[in-house]
Amino acid sequence: MKKFLITGGAGFIGSTIVEKLLKLRHKVIIIDNFNNFYDYNKKIQNILESTNNCKNKEFFSNFLSKDEKITKLKKICDSDNFILEYSDIRNTEEMDRIFSKHEIDLVFNAAAMAGVRPSLIEPTLYEEVNIRGYMNILELCKKYEIKKFVQASSSSVYGNNKEVPFKETDIVDFAISPYAATKKSGEVIGHVYHKLYGIDMVQLRFFTVYGPKQRPDLAIHKFTKMILEEKEIPFYGDGTTSRDYTYIDDIIDGILKSINYLFKNEKVYEIFNLGGSHVVSLKKMVEAIETTLGKKAILNKQPIQPGDVEKTYADITKAKKILGYNPTTNFEDGIRKFIEWYKNTI
Ligand SMILES: NC(=O)c1ccc[n+]([C@@H]2O[C@H](COP(=O)([O-])OP(=O)(O)OC[C@H]3O[C@@H](n4cnc5c(N)ncnc54)[C@H](O)[C@@H]3O)[C@@H](O)[C@H]2O)c1
Repeated sequence: MKKFLITGGAGFIGSTIVEKLLKLRHKVIIIDNFNNFYDYNKKIQNILESTNNCKNKEFFSNFLSKDEKITKLKKICDSDNFILEYSDIRNTEEMDRIFSKHEIDLVFNAAAMAGVRPSLIEPTLYEEVNIRGYMNILELCKKYEIKKFVQASSSSVYGNNKEVPFKETDIVDFAISPYAATKKSGEVIGHVYHKLYGIDMVQLRFFTVYGPKQRPDLAIHKFTKMILEEKEIPFYGDGTTSRDYTYIDDIIDGILKSINYLFKNEKVYEIFNLGGSHVVSLKKMVEAIETTLGKKAILNKQPIQPGDVEKTYADITKAKKILGYNPTTNFEDGIRKFIEWYKNTI
């Protein structure tokens, strides 16, 4: 049994890896501040599901405050193998208190202000959490001699890279959003902690992750909801912008393989693309949702948004070769599984 600290463990990717690690009988400590980037009740639901407590509907009572709900959540979910720390990674003292009381073999830092467009509105908040908060965690890994670290980076570091598919060796100096800039900085800072303090580190560049529990601000989730509610969906550009969509189970497999790689090897600093390695245009994505729902979308055509890249497309040769990463979910199946989950949850 290994002991993991997962920051952002109540979020989409964090809570899914927590569920997997608990099933594999590891011990997991999570840190999350349940911020309001999207409805925090969804994050409570994530934790209930990950810890196999999903029958507890009482959390959605409007009579409880957010703090009361999370205190209750902790009472129900905490066990020998799972501990919830309701805290903010920017809070240095709190972080030290948490690190001092838990034994930790590996940290997965998934806590972040995610999302490209909102980062144009609050760039300094993105810097505070994604850089300052992340550095707090790294400083504590240094202090408490935790030598294994996985960082959630992003395909957004490639900016509007012209060469496709994107390779880890491509130059990533041309970010086009504050969010992307924080993720690129995170890679550089991670390298410093590896070199100076011997922290073995894997930086994972996730390519648009989707599937059950997906963030409600992301297009597939948002569009599904709006099509079902017969609302107009914002359709940016002419529909040719495209994304390498990656199904959550494939991402989880990539994270687990990275964790195993870190435990088996010393002196590691690696960056890996984790993508699905096939590209779907915005137009095709909307069509796939329409087909699965059996319902037409009402499109509200708008110009392409600042900060949005035209295309993402992962070259996953490196992750395949070194980690044995092998995404298997095709887009239509992934959409079907997402919609199945969506209909059961709402
Ligand atoms: N979902 C994707 O497609 C995608 C793509 C590329 C990279 N990523 C990265 O993966 C990670 C997880 O993304 P996600 O989609 O699960 O997002 P998410 O928003 O669902 O999860 C992030 C979690 O971090 C928590 N958090 C935010 N600020 C915090 C703070 N200051 N202290 C403590 N907790 C805090 C949030 O409450 C949330 O639960 C992020 O680092 C994101 O940038 C995600």
